[in-house]
Amino acid sequence: MKNNDITHFGYQSVPTREKNKRVTAIFDAIAPRYDLMNDVMTGGLHRLWKRYTIELSGIHQGQSVLDLAGGTGDLTLRFSKLAGKNGRVILADINQCMLRVSQDRIAKSQDQNINIIQANAEHLPFADNTFDCISVAFGLRNITNKQLALDSINRTLKPGGRLLILEFSKPKGAILSRLCGNYSFKLLPTIGQLITGHRAPYRYLAESIHMHPDQNTLKSMLQKAGFKRVDHHNLSGGIVAVHRGFKA
Ligand SMILES: C[S@@+](CC[C@H](N)C(=O)[O-])C[C@H]1O[C@@H](n2cnc3c(N)ncnc32)[C@H](O)[C@@H]1O
Repeated sequence: MKNNDITHFGYQSVPTREKNKRVTAIFDAIAPRYDLMNDVMTGGLHRLWKRYTIELSGIHQGQSVLDLAGGTGDLTLRFSKLAGKNGRVILADINQCMLRVSQDRIAKSQDQNINIIQANAEHLPFADNTFDCISVAFGLRNITNKQLALDSINRTLKPGGRLLILEFSKPKGAILSRLCGNYSFKLLPTIGQLITGHRAPYRYLAESIHMHPDQNTLKSMLQKAGFKRVDHHNLSGGIVAVHRGFKA
């Protein structure tokens, strides 16, 4: 990728080298109230979507997991219990403010098998064939070069290891699609303003959901990165989907 390449940031076209900075500014602004806002804007549904993702992971005692773009640590904390004291869970995220929130939560949980690191998903600082499972929950949408990130994930998974991507997707049917569009463009920025004091991040959220690849496009991207047996599971009528793929 050249420095003068253009990518999208919501509906805006921005130089590729700019996108990370803009995404960082968004999460710097909302980190302190991120968890509360998640509960309010999804009516608590994000907890069920995450639980489903964890169930699909099949993680058991002694395994190693990377919760990539792990943010404030929701999935990390759940994986930690399943991996147990002989397992290891790494939470990696590019944003220091989000990591600070996760550090506080993880310290309170007293789980001993978690490490937190700052890393860019496009260039993971881990050896080849390290993890049994890598999860990316609501993170892929924000990554500048998604294909590069998928390649990097594939490289660091063990053979037979699985990737789980939980992300907003394309709702099934015109009515649900229109309802979601109205909710995310008309209501969400106002709720965001009231709870976090910031409107723009939630306008970006609505736009980035709309720009994100649909279920089949994302499936092809996983296959292009070398994943096998790729499937997806629509949740809440396709408002979100979990994609799963295995390293050959
Ligand atoms: C919407 S939050 C999701 C957090 C958490 N996974 C969850 O489900 O609640 C998206 C996260 O992706 C992170 N992120 C964005 N770009 C990234 C990148 N290139 N590499 C790693 N993390 C990134 C952001 O810093 C943010 O914490």
